Amino acid sequence: MCCARYLLNKKCVYRHIFTQIRHFKLRSKVLSINKESINTYNSSCQGENTDNPNWKNYMSFCKSYENTSKHLMIRDMTVYENFLTEDEEKSLHEEVEPYMKRMRYEFDHWDDAIHGYRETERLHWNPKNTTVLQRVRDLAFPPGKPQLSLVHVLDLDEKGLIKPHIDSVRFCGNTIAGLSLLSDSVMRLVHDKKKDQVVDILLKRRSLYIMTNTARYDFTHEILGADTSEFAGVKVPRRRRISIICRCEPEEKQEN
Ligand code: OGA
Ligand code: MN
Repeated sequence: MCCARYLLNKKCVYRHIFTQIRHFKLRSKVLSINKESINTYNSSCQGENTDNPNWKNYMSFCKSYENTSKHLMIRDMTVYENFLTEDEEKSLHEEVEPYMKRMRYEFDHWDDAIHGYRETERLHWNPKNTTVLQRVRDLAFPPGKPQLSLVHVLDLDEKGLIKPHIDSVRFCGNTIAGLSLLSDSVMRLVHDKKKDQVVDILLKRRSLYIMTNTARYDFTHEILGADTSEFAGVKVPRRRRISIICRCEPEEKQEN
C-alpha cells in the first residue's frame, strides 16, 4: 500500500503513523465498557432537548424501532440545522484545506472503520473559527466538563464511508459534537445488541450534531457511502465531506 516514494518521505511516514494511532485510539468495533459507569447517564447538557419538536426533520426510525425507546434517542441525538453560516463554513474550510490537501485519502485498509479518508487533529484555530468552535463547545458540554482540546478534522472523499463503530471509551467521554461541511450525509445508528433497532440521522451541510449517552454508547454509528446514502427513502447525494468534531475527556470510571 505504501509506494517507495511515500516511504522515502519521512514526514509522510510520520503522518501516516500518527493517523493510524489516532484511528486505533478513537474507534473500536468491539464495545468494552463498564456499563455501571455509564448507566447513570448524566443528561444535564441535553436534558432540555427531550421535547425537541424538530427531531422529525432529521431523524428517521425504522419500522421495528421500539416505541418505548424512541424518546431516549430523541433526547440523546440532536441536530442543529444551519448551525454554521455559509461564511463560517467557508472560513473553517479555508483554515483546514491547506493541511488536508497535502495528505492522501486512505483507501487501502478495508479492515479500518473508515474508508476513503484523511484526518488530523488541530489545537490552534484562527480567532474567527475559535469563536465558532467555542459556540459548539458551549452548546454540547455543560460548564466545567473536561474537554479534549484537540479538535478532530475528518475529510471523507466522495467515495468514502465510515463503517459502524463506537468511539473508544478510553479516549472519549459521553458526548461527541460534530460539524458537517461541504456535503449532506446520512449517519446510521444501530443498537449494538439489537440490530433491528436502527435510526437514520440526516446531517445537512453546515449542521451540528450532538451525540450523547445512549446514542454514543449503545449504538454504533456510521456514515453511509454514496451507493446507500438515503434518508426516509430519499436519496442524499454524497460529495466530499469534512467533519469537525469536538469531544469531551473520557469519563473517570471505566474498564482499564
Ligand atoms: C469518527 C466518526 C463521524 C463524523 O471519526 O469516529 O464517527 O461525523 N466521525 O465524521
Ligand atoms: Mn465515531
